[in-house]
Amino acid sequence: MSGENQLHGCAITGVGSYVPERVLTNADLETIVDTTDEWITTRTGIKQRRMAADNEFTSTMAAAASRKALAQAELDPAELDLIIVATITPDMPFPATACLVQQELGAAKAAAFDLEAACSGFLYALEIAQAFITAGVHQNILIIGAEKLSSIIDWEDRNTCVLFGDGAGAAVLQRRDGARGVLATRLGSDGTKANILAMPGGGCCQPATVDSVNERIHFLKMEGKEVYKNAVTAMTAAAKEVLERSGLGIEDIKCIIPHQANMRIISAIGDRLGATEDQVFVNLQKYGNTSAASVAVALDEALQQGVVQRGDKILIIAFGAGLTWGATVLEW
Ligand code: COA
Repeated sequence: MSGENQLHGCAITGVGSYVPERVLTNADLETIVDTTDEWITTRTGIKQRRMAADNEFTSTMAAAASRKALAQAELDPAELDLIIVATITPDMPFPATACLVQQELGAAKAAAFDLEAACSGFLYALEIAQAFITAGVHQNILIIGAEKLSSIIDWEDRNTCVLFGDGAGAAVLQRRDGARGVLATRLGSDGTKANILAMPGGGCCQPATVDSVNERIHFLKMEGKEVYKNAVTAMTAAAKEVLERSGLGIEDIKCIIPHQANMRIISAIGDRLGATEDQVFVNLQKYGNTSAASVAVALDEALQQGVVQRGDKILIIAFGAGLTWGATVLEW
């Protein structure tokens, strides 16, 4: 829990994002699996998503987003103390993708590690980074949500392959005494529902074998309806809690940035919070669900579009496998 007894101020001084060039439309998907643009649009709101090229990886997309965030913060990568990459699609099981990003950026002084909280990863990284800064441990931290989900999608499973896309978003957090930044955060998890959204193969339980490949267990598996219900409940509760703890009503929030998974989930949460449509930022029609990158890319686009001005309050809400979830209120 953040927001209380802070020793130092922490500000987000730079935000950047990157999405690959290649566009995969719903019409393209009609040629791959038994689906229609109409089904995907009405059930999810997604119209297209971006697909990384063969020579693009989570680390390279993360580095591209980070360069933009660092440029906006006017911070030399050599000044970074810490790099956190939130991802479920690391370049490889080890070393950490954060170390590969460190090398790409030339951030020689930084410690670097990966964080795995699925689609909630960026909010988990934000909470960790701001805690390090407010406690006086570090001054300059780069957090990134980045995914090459196309590498773990089963392109024969119409239940899942239409939902996801690739991309990366990054933010630079710096000590700025007097800055308010994160006003309140709530993170949560529920491991009793670990099985409803998972990639079973490739870990130590079921390492790669010829059989495991044939059984297609190295792909993302999801019980869509269960995920849907849990997402609405957990994101709404976390959002209400951070609003209450920061002493704000929903009308005080300029921009709500929900995890971009499904338009129906976003609308259900908006309704339960009593938000108006124009408070809620949506870009899932362009990118689908990019997991850990989702709220980071959306935050960058909201800022670029001038939706948020200095001093405005932003509510970010996320949910993902684990289960994991989180909500944060920021003063921009
Ligand atoms: N095209 C056409 N039909 C499809 C389809 C597709 N891409 N995917 C599934 N269907 C079919 C199903 O097979 C099912 O057919 P059946 O009734 O003959 O068995 C039918 O559509 C209805 O499926 P259902 O699961 O009831 O749809 P839904 O309304 O629950 O929507 C999701 C499915 C996946 C869109 C929805 O459950 C969802 O968004 N869940 C959350 C997913 C998510 O956000 N995950 C990430 C969270 S981090």
